[in-house]
Amino acid sequence: MKKRLYIETVGCQMNVLDSELVAASLLEAGYELVDSPRRADAILFNTCSVRQHAEDKVYSALGRLKHVKQQHPHKIIGVLGCMAQKDQGLVFKRAPHVDLVVGPGQLARVPALLERIAAGDGPLMEVSMDRRAGTRQAVRASFARYNPARTAVVRPGRHQAMVRIMFGCDKLCAFCIVPSVRGPEQSRPPAEIEAEVSQLAGEGCLEVTLIGQTVNSYRGMEAGRRVRLSDLLARLHGIEGIRRLKFVTNHPRHMTPDLLQAVRDLPKVSPYFHVPAQSGSDAVLRRMKRGYTAGQYRQTLAAIRQAVPGAAVTSDFIVGFCGETEDDFARTVELVRECRFKNSFIFKYSPRPRTPAADIYPDDVPDQLKRRRNNELLAVQNAISEEENRPYLGRTVEILVEGPSKSSRKRADAAEVTQLTGRTVCDRIVVFPGPRTLIGRIVSVEIVGTDAFTLFGKVAGVEEGRSGQ
Ligand code: SAH
Ligand code: F3S
Repeated sequence: MKKRLYIETVGCQMNVLDSELVAASLLEAGYELVDSPRRADAILFNTCSVRQHAEDKVYSALGRLKHVKQQHPHKIIGVLGCMAQKDQGLVFKRAPHVDLVVGPGQLARVPALLERIAAGDGPLMEVSMDRRAGTRQAVRASFARYNPARTAVVRPGRHQAMVRIMFGCDKLCAFCIVPSVRGPEQSRPPAEIEAEVSQLAGEGCLEVTLIGQTVNSYRGMEAGRRVRLSDLLARLHGIEGIRRLKFVTNHPRHMTPDLLQAVRDLPKVSPYFHVPAQSGSDAVLRRMKRGYTAGQYRQTLAAIRQAVPGAAVTSDFIVGFCGETEDDFARTVELVRECRFKNSFIFKYSPRPRTPAADIYPDDVPDQLKRRRNNELLAVQNAISEEENRPYLGRTVEILVEGPSKSSRKRADAAEVTQLTGRTVCDRIVVFPGPRTLIGRIVSVEIVGTDAFTLFGKVAGVEEGRSGQ
């Protein structure tokens, strides 16, 4: 009988991709996927440590599994990813029923480790080196690149895929744990990326999102020459079958003219930029070690708007960072008002152990104040998002249909009309009624309603071609 795998993911797109890859390698090793821990032989959590809340979620899920493990001691419970790298042996202390701890740089070993544990060898742990524990080369090597082959089965949809173009991060923003848990920045060779995208195109994938912590600082090397993100986009643009190319996340300091030109000139590249600002106050940005001022961020944004008119720009903000005053916060509000982001992700500062900020500055903004600033900034952003969506009323947009909308996932009949969801080229979510046979198709939708988060529409036309299902 096949062994059964349950895998749950917390965190960013990088983790979603890692889980797909781990699942793919375990399917290869003879597992099948199940959707509940109770039915599984191996229960894996791919974890995030960017904020305390993400860690609390996993520890409480692990707590709930304690009696399951007592009743079924053969079940293997594993903690993978960023929190595994950060907490290491502490995971076993806090949750003694865990059998396996594996950092993001060691995921290639998961199938072999599970086998050893099944043979009675557990508990086991594999993590990468601390950034300061050895030579740069040794540390890099311990964060092994991880790109096993995957089949379409593990992706959420056959028509979309994420492709990692770089690992790790060297920006060392003072608040951020990513550089320590994901290791030094490493770019994948361009030929390898091109081969993966070609294969995806061959499997019917229409949209590829290139991912990296600072994707626009990509530095591929080929025959001794540097390949930039703009060069890579141009190469991938030529791959037949690929209709849309996206890339996330950008760092404001690397938004170079060649990249803006590539987005302007390559029709398959989405006019969409996620460029986190984090704060509108120079004093806060300096303490965050972001490497730019609010003025420089504004210039970057102006360059985007000039090069790619109509582009959608989104951002991340942290409120309540160490020492943030009312005046600092007012500058962030001002920046949000001015920049007119399509949307922003807003987070309350969460001190992370062993980050520069946690070592140097007290976490001195009370939680209540963080919450107030979070709500206030969100309200400003939501009003802007709503205003930015309103002009879409009456327009017809082209969308790639992704699947049933959240509220209608359960129904099964392919021909039955249900609420579907998809995205415009500039990453706006569109919800409209239609049959499931439209999933994976490019469809014209006339927009009949808008709110801050969604465009609502009705089908105006379907592109010729095979059914997506
Ligand atoms: N470059 C990465 C950023 C990862 S963290 C990317 O690919 O998106 C995502 C966002 O979480 C950051 O942009 C920042 O706004 C927020 N964040 C990071 N560390 C944080 C912390 N300690 N507290 C609160 N928010 C944080
Ligand atoms: Fe984190 Fe800054 Fe890198 S937010 S992922 S250290 S760019």
